[in-house]
Amino acid sequence: MSEAVKTAQIACTSEPLSGVDVDVLIVPWFEGEPAASVPVLDEAVGGELARAIAAKEFEGRPYEFMLTAVVDRSWTARRIALAGAGRLADFSGDLARKVATSAGLAMKQRRVDRAAFVLPQGLPARLDAAEIAQAVTEGLTLSEFNTGSYKTADIPPGKPPIWSIATAGIPADRQSAVMTAVQRGRLLGESSNLAREMANEPSNTLTPREFASRAEALVAGCGLTFEVLDEKRIEALGMGLLLGVARGSHEPPRLMIIRHNPPGAPAAPVLGLVGKGITFDTGGISLKPADGMERMKDDMAGGSAVVCAMRAIAMLNAPIRVIGVVPTTENMPGGRAIKPGDVLKSAEGKTVEVINTDAEGRLILGDGLWYARHLGATHLVDVATLTGAIVTALGKLTSGLFGTPQSWVDIVRRVADRAGDRTWPMPLFEDYREQIKSEIADMANTGGRPAGSVTAALFLKEFTGGLPWAHIDIAGTAWAEDAKPYLPKGPSGVAVRTLVELAFTSKEWV
Ligand code: BES
Ligand code: MN
Ligand code: ZN
Repeated sequence: MSEAVKTAQIACTSEPLSGVDVDVLIVPWFEGEPAASVPVLDEAVGGELARAIAAKEFEGRPYEFMLTAVVDRSWTARRIALAGAGRLADFSGDLARKVATSAGLAMKQRRVDRAAFVLPQGLPARLDAAEIAQAVTEGLTLSEFNTGSYKTADIPPGKPPIWSIATAGIPADRQSAVMTAVQRGRLLGESSNLAREMANEPSNTLTPREFASRAEALVAGCGLTFEVLDEKRIEALGMGLLLGVARGSHEPPRLMIIRHNPPGAPAAPVLGLVGKGITFDTGGISLKPADGMERMKDDMAGGSAVVCAMRAIAMLNAPIRVIGVVPTTENMPGGRAIKPGDVLKSAEGKTVEVINTDAEGRLILGDGLWYARHLGATHLVDVATLTGAIVTALGKLTSGLFGTPQSWVDIVRRVADRAGDRTWPMPLFEDYREQIKSEIADMANTGGRPAGSVTAALFLKEFTGGLPWAHIDIAGTAWAEDAKPYLPKGPSGVAVRTLVELAFTSKEWV
């Protein structure tokens, strides 16, 4: 695995803190912890810690940050950064990840050369040291992402330090698990960043063809098989929904198929991951308003999550077969574009009346879900920037989760929570299906404004053939509009880690 990780590996050191050779030692600090609880630390900084805590200058609330000089000359590190981690009772892997990202961003901003993150010690039994170590490493890696890839004249956005993880204080019998978890976290953080990079790419460079060729380059050498279908082969498969959306564009559509087929893996289950790959969504003939339309370059964030998850799934050697399917096209108005009232035929055989050409994601995913089934998937998950309505319902920090049966949805939810991709369950009430009835075809592609995310999911369900299926609507979460201490503005890389970790839970699927 190691040689394929693009970013530098993160070293672990079990040296006592005084001997860790870096410029800055980052120490997570829990709120309410007395400075005296780690006397060596307070002594090393000449009592600054006790003073700052007594003066409430630093309390240890999440994302609080204090940088102070080490005065003890017997220490190797020059400075200590205290990173607020909140109350120990509220601490979790998710918070560890976020605290690490915010500390990482602070190091980057200060152009620190070498920094070590000190894993918290003495954690309660409910928290596993390896899980925290993985989350911390993911967080540090996520902090390395830059959005300004096309800037030529601006000041550079800072340089991430060379990272290490200090494991002093972790019980000896957990050290090796922690080291493995750090490497896993590094790969997962890197895979999230690669997905962010693709989602950030403008649509004039990342066309469907370019998306496919970058995906191919990204997964090359990981042991995956990569196949891309051009418009002729898409037509031969009868994918009228994907072709319909593509009609308005001069750029031809593509369909990527990425397979992880580890030798000796059982014939079943086969996890099928389907990602929405609209490289730009103008709305088509049902044109979107100009305000904010530039954001629609990230309408392939679900597709890039699937591509980057497949890469990590292979590099981590997931024990099951996994198939990634990413239909990709632009959604453009044009002389040959589909128009409201047009009827399209899906590869699965069902016909769809297009009421609104801006409801294009469900169209391409309908053919994509069918194809994943056709290739032998037994369990489906799709990820899509599908509806504005999910942003209204859940905001920008939580993805919508739909699916059936409940047991499968519950597994996806639990995995996503741990991966830091929070979701919230949404209903698939059968009686809402009435909203997508069509006079002329098997169904319509929109059901009006009420429960817009639910009717979109009910549309997708028509293409799942009754298989266990979960749908993650990431329209709100794929792109951060306001910077948070732990998440800068821009693409978030949501769902990558969830999809990867899911491939390691098959024993629970029964
Ligand atoms: N890509 C959009 C959904 C979206 C909206 C993503 C806002 C991110 C932010 C999707 O293709 C879309 O246009 N959906 C329509 C559906 C409607 C026409 C039924 C929507 O949500 O308005
Ligand atoms: Mn749309
Ligand atoms: Zn869209």
